[in-house]
Amino acid sequence: MASIFKSSIGKKLLMSISGLFLILFLTFHMVMNLTYVFDPDSVVYGTICEILSMGWVNVVVPILAAGFIVHVAYAVILTIGNRRARGEQRYEVSNKARTDSWSSRNMFVLGLVVLLCLILHLTDFWAKMQLQNWLGGEEGDPYMLMEVTFGRWWLTCLYLAWFFVVWFHLTHGFWSALQTVGWNNNIWMKRWKVITIAYVTLLMLGFAVVAIYAFCKANGYCGLVPNFPGILG
Ligand code: HEM
Repeated sequence: MASIFKSSIGKKLLMSISGLFLILFLTFHMVMNLTYVFDPDSVVYGTICEILSMGWVNVVVPILAAGFIVHVAYAVILTIGNRRARGEQRYEVSNKARTDSWSSRNMFVLGLVVLLCLILHLTDFWAKMQLQNWLGGEEGDPYMLMEVTFGRWWLTCLYLAWFFVVWFHLTHGFWSALQTVGWNNNIWMKRWKVITIAYVTLLMLGFAVVAIYAFCKANGYCGLVPNFPGILG
């Protein structure tokens, strides 16, 4: 069991399982965010915010944080290991690198940018909501936080750039993780690559739509955004 933390295949497996877990979380997060756009009376979005301030979240958040910590810790360990190995066989690996995608060669840098923006995101939202709940302070109003954050054009642009970086990380990461967990026969790998691009594009577009909608709402450009039917409200 301890060998999973030491062998390189074990480390890679932890990387892929934590990565898939984070993708699952991102999917839930995006669907919940979309209710902000498709629910004009904010009934569903308000209910979700209420559910997210209940006790069970105190269990889920540490699990999510642990998934993130495992992913980042093994990213550092694997990257250092790969650099060392590359030092020994520079010629062979540089040939391979030419055939790899840009994302696959820059996973660590992409991950670092994701991490920096995540810290900003947590200070914008989580620190003003759930953390306040834990500290016994006054929780911020989620609608106000959306308007305050996305009301500033430069912050909206930064968020959009962040989504683009996550998109790059995941266009390689998603299929690579499925390959690591064993779904790697020739036919399925080709399919997974197509499914990955489609899935990750929809995922990140979902986040982008919410950011742009909130920007328009906060700045009074609502006439410019379509009047979505209240399919959820
Ligand atoms: C939104 C959050 C993130 C998600 C959903 C995510 C997802 C993934 C997935 C699915 C993989 C593929 C694993 C495999 O090939 O088996 C991966 C690989 C990787 N991730 Fe992330 N990741 C995230 C954030 C980060 C962060 C913050 C870092 C580091 C600072 C990072 C660094 C890496 C690296 C270096 C790899 C390649 C590891 C290797 O194959 O050697 N990721 N990520």
